[in-house]
Amino acid sequence: MLEGICIFVSLKETILDYLNHCFPASVSYSELANQFSIDCQTVEQVIKEIVSDNMPVIVQSQFVRLINPILSRSAINSRLTTSFVGRATLLHQSIPSTNDWIKHQVKDLKEGTLVLAHQQYSGKGRLGRNWSSPAGKTVSMSLLLKPADQLLDYSLLTQLAAAALVSALEIYCEAKIKWPNDIIVQNKKVAGILTEAEYSGSFLEGIIIGIGINTNLEETDFSEELKLKAGSLKVVRGTVDPNLIIARFAEKFEQLYTEWLTTHQSNHFLDSCRSHSALIGHTFWIIDTHSADQNHRKALIQTINETGGLVVKYLDNSETEVLTSTHYSIRGEHGYL
Ligand code: BTN
Repeated sequence: MLEGICIFVSLKETILDYLNHCFPASVSYSELANQFSIDCQTVEQVIKEIVSDNMPVIVQSQFVRLINPILSRSAINSRLTTSFVGRATLLHQSIPSTNDWIKHQVKDLKEGTLVLAHQQYSGKGRLGRNWSSPAGKTVSMSLLLKPADQLLDYSLLTQLAAAALVSALEIYCEAKIKWPNDIIVQNKKVAGILTEAEYSGSFLEGIIIGIGINTNLEETDFSEELKLKAGSLKVVRGTVDPNLIIARFAEKFEQLYTEWLTTHQSNHFLDSCRSHSALIGHTFWIIDTHSADQNHRKALIQTINETGGLVVKYLDNSETEVLTSTHYSIRGEHGYL
């Protein structure tokens, strides 16, 4: 029975890959049957399952097509020239969280493994928030690093990942970074980063960099409340290919990470974070999420220092403070930015 399920799942991935390859064209059930030497009934069954998974497909009189490109391991692999990032890629249909999935198998996975999901149903954001990842219209990915240096300052990796992501998105649009982990396009959050470490006792087993991107969500996919701060690449730029973004991210991340490990210089990627900052030079509310009353103070954002902290100058007493990402939330005068 288990074997049967596995074969079925991989046939589903094969058919989804084919539909992705044919995007935006419609494909007939008989073409799929011929292509994969299966009967039309099996095609019908797989397509039914794809529909019940809420994947973005349109099915009409024995023809099927994707509404937008979806995650595909073959489409990513064909673009990769990295030596370790993304060399092993796993793609799930629907799991609670790609970060948690890596945590549970961290000992068995190689450095550079990329875990992807068409959908997450318990996606996690920073500061204990939820992260929504509807099927086939978003990127949920987690990258596993196993640095030899147990004392590596991994808080900087969120900044490194942000610099790599902004660079990857350049083919589609100009993105900015709202320290520490939000990626902004046209004043709306389109992506977020959650970096976590997994320990066995005091041994660092791995660092997990989780990235969620609102790639092909429509305006109507957002609640009225979320619409005020969140956006998608499709809304601002039209349909995008998530595989192209992932491959470009993997290349840039590997380049910046390798450079950092060899030179121990963080300025290369931090300069990019500074020049793409949506905060530096402007005044924001700083919220101390660890204070009982979520204390709000207004401050001028000055820069990001060499350890990735945000340097701010409070307007009430002109004192300067370096903020760490685990404690603070930043809000604009009238809301998110
Ligand atoms: C944030 O903006 O607060 C961070 C969002 C991070 C979401 C990604 S999606 C892939 C990975 N798995 C998770 O559960 N979270 C991260």
